[in-house]
Amino acid sequence: MFIFVYFTFIVLLTRIECFPLWGLDIDSAYEISDFLTAAGHPLDLPQIHTKLRIKNINGTIYKDTFSKLGKIESLEIASNHINQIEAGAICLSPTLRQFQIDFTGNDNNLSFHKNIFDNCEHLEELALIFNYELKPELDVDFFEYVSNLKTLVLRNFKIEHLTKAFITNLKFVSSLTLFNTQMKQIDGNVFEHLNNLEKLSLNLHMLTTLPKDLFKSTPKLTTLILANGNLTGLNWGEFDGLTSLKSLVLTQNHITSFDADKIATYMPELEALAVELNPLECKKLESFAEELTKKFEHPIQVTYKFDPGFYDECKAGIEI
Ligand SMILES: *[C@@H]1O[C@H](CO)[C@@H](O)[C@H](O)[C@H]1NC(C)=O
Ligand SMILES: *[C@@H]1O[C@H](CO)[C@@H](O)[C@H](O)[C@H]1NC(C)=O
Ligand SMILES: *[C@@H]1O[C@H](CO)[C@@H](O)[C@H](O)[C@H]1NC(C)=O
Repeated sequence: MFIFVYFTFIVLLTRIECFPLWGLDIDSAYEISDFLTAAGHPLDLPQIHTKLRIKNINGTIYKDTFSKLGKIESLEIASNHINQIEAGAICLSPTLRQFQIDFTGNDNNLSFHKNIFDNCEHLEELALIFNYELKPELDVDFFEYVSNLKTLVLRNFKIEHLTKAFITNLKFVSSLTLFNTQMKQIDGNVFEHLNNLEKLSLNLHMLTTLPKDLFKSTPKLTTLILANGNLTGLNWGEFDGLTSLKSLVLTQNHITSFDADKIATYMPELEALAVELNPLECKKLESFAEELTKKFEHPIQVTYKFDPGFYDECKAGIEI
């Protein structure tokens, strides 16, 4: 099952262009490997760089560890065995705009609190990729000091109930990814202050329904990904307000009926809809796709077969 789910992500990845599902897009960075931290011994760069990737950094990130990074704008911490991050240790460089850290291979059970982001009000892009097994829970005020973020990616953390309080500070966010969260409940007013939201991904969730009015305050949303979850009882009115939405991904949920009328009414600009791997006979999805296509004056691509091109589920008569 696990491998299967990941295989689906790869399919999604190829389809959704320019959307950082996995993290931020930090390329051509200067790289440093194998750094063991010590208090009073900051990481010293040999020359001025603006992008830095650190691989295999161990120990505590002290308040002064990143105090000599000069004009660094992008900082990526890849593999690491960090055991603690001191308050204010991340944003020592006033030029820092982009920060990504990957705890995937780090078995230390760190606790994360808002004070690691002291002085981070200049940060625009943040990606926190946590350990898949440890899945930390984050305090409700965790984002208090990063209130100017435009892009936020969080992977592998535990939030069973998403409330407005958790993301209310992120009023400038245009791209929000909450990936692998075990989210079972979401409040209807969660996105009330996120009027700039253009891309939202809640991939790998456990939501069974969506509250009414969830998207009433997000008129700029163009990409919405709700794949790999437990969505079952949609009445499609939940999507009211998505007047700019171009792409909707509902791949691999438990949805058994689709309402072409409401989909066309609430999402008049829709250009791509992915509904494969929902438990509905392929033939039924096929006729829904045909019906939906007729409701739009512009072309719309409806993906309802898993891995089209490899084999034809509809012809093979396979039900998922
Ligand atoms: C960091 O810790 C890991 C695991 O304990 C170890 O394999 C690695 O050699 C350490 N690297 C440094 C630079 O200390
Ligand atoms: C990690 O630490 C938290 C408390 O900070 C604790 O609740 C949790 O059980 C720990 N997880 C593991 C796998 O030890
Ligand atoms: C979500 O679906 C999975 C199987 O697809 C199931 O194991 C899990 O219990 C479901 N969770 C909820 C909250 O419905």
